[in-house]
Amino acid sequence: MLILFLALPGSSWRRPPASNLQRQERRKEASRTTQSRSSKRKAKMTDDGASRDDHVAWLEAAGRARGGIKGAARSLARTLGTMPPAEVQPTFEPAMPFSDLPVFQSMDKHRSVASMFGLKNPFYRAHDGRLGATTVHEGRVLVNFASYDYLGLNQEPAVAAAAKAAVDECGTSVSASRLVAGERYMHRELESELADFYRCEACLTFVSGHATNVSTVGMLMGSDDLIVQDELMHNSVIVGAKLSRATCHSFRHNDLDDLEKVLRQHRAKHKNALIIAEGLYSMDGDFPDLPRLILIKERYGAWLMIDEAHSLGVMGKTGRGSAEHFGLDPRRVDIWMGTLSKTLASCGGYICGSHDLIEILKYQAPGFVYSVGLSPPSTAATLAALRILKGDAGRVAKLQANGRLFLDEARRAGLDTMTSAGLSVVPVMVGCPVRAVRLTDKLLERGINALPIIHPAVPMKAARLRFFITSKHTPEQICSTVELIAAELATIAKRQSLVERATLAVVAVREGGGS
Ligand SMILES: Cc1ncc(COP(=O)(O)O)c(C=O)c1O
Repeated sequence: MLILFLALPGSSWRRPPASNLQRQERRKEASRTTQSRSSKRKAKMTDDGASRDDHVAWLEAAGRARGGIKGAARSLARTLGTMPPAEVQPTFEPAMPFSDLPVFQSMDKHRSVASMFGLKNPFYRAHDGRLGATTVHEGRVLVNFASYDYLGLNQEPAVAAAAKAAVDECGTSVSASRLVAGERYMHRELESELADFYRCEACLTFVSGHATNVSTVGMLMGSDDLIVQDELMHNSVIVGAKLSRATCHSFRHNDLDDLEKVLRQHRAKHKNALIIAEGLYSMDGDFPDLPRLILIKERYGAWLMIDEAHSLGVMGKTGRGSAEHFGLDPRRVDIWMGTLSKTLASCGGYICGSHDLIEILKYQAPGFVYSVGLSPPSTAATLAALRILKGDAGRVAKLQANGRLFLDEARRAGLDTMTSAGLSVVPVMVGCPVRAVRLTDKLLERGINALPIIHPAVPMKAARLRFFITSKHTPEQICSTVELIAAELATIAKRQSLVERATLAVVAVREGGGS
């Protein structure tokens, strides 16, 4: 407060240096003014007991004061025989309980609607044993279509043995960022083999696939730049794009004419541009036309980033992903991103690309620089899984055959599999979210684990069940599952009451997710 007073015009705070004569003149003037005002002070008392003249007097006293702030304070006290009125502290309401937050209320509403329809929560089910083509839930062995263990490497003894040996040798953690704690030789080995797998110059691994996208996109792009992404891109890319402050546009799913339209309209206004797509889409099980994506990125002077979370080990004759599928040189894509959590049976993410790109990320990507390095067991498991993948194309062929079989059988049974390419992901469109959750429940009763995707992840009337197919599923498991889906779906649709349908229509309108 005092500092504020001293800074006001009329105080000595901002004045240019004055001569002795000027100073004497000012002091006399100030003293005359103070005396004349103090005689009127009592007549001008305000409601809070202080007068406006008090404040003026404080200002003038401050102006006269020598010895800095303390001197000014003493002078004020002398002048007025009182201290300035205490500052009024603002008061605040107590912090809002989390249960009053709109996000909680909305979740609560969803739970009430679900319980009104007698639905069990299908999410966060606890499992025992190793997740793969089968799983154990509440003591029962289920056929599992909710695992990303596409090549069955989570079941592989050599992968588990490598992880155990790494724990014995290096412990369970590398404790800090590799930048400061140093790295392990196995980090370098893994990155060198991944780079080699993509025929790229270099690679960097992160502790999470999600953080890989957030950090890479968020750091590389800036406010002068443009990001154009497929509308079905994974949340991690969307979050990274927001973080970057670049201008972001999405194009209709797999519609490269629409991508070109966006670029024609916006590219020239920005410095750098980044096009982002997935190698294989985890929601719809389809993939983009990579050769055309490369032509477009070259024509518009943009970088191209492909997220291979679901295409590594799945696409291409030997599982090298979408470049191999199309017979392209992977170096024509600027940024390859992938996760270690799916085909590679571990945990983490990677970026493969040029030396320069990796050097930037190594020193600037916050999710790498400020986060711990991959743990020894995760690193060793990934390395062992990658080596098996490199040497065993038979697993990839088996997975591709299983995916094709699931798709063909589903189509034959009249199920809507949307645009799935019949590789590792086949969605079965249900439409109504209540029916989707009921189908999940019914399948569970019949020994099958498959999860629904419902609003808000997809529009209200676009609920579906997603089936992740692995090389370890047997043709019998696939055929009998498709048969059960078709039978249960028909029964569920027939039994849905009019009241339930009407209630759902109202909820859809209220939630604004009707389309
Ligand atoms: C396309 C895509 N990218 C990134 C991620 C994030 O990977 P992670 O779960 O390994 O963090 C996922 C996860 O499912 C994904 O589907």
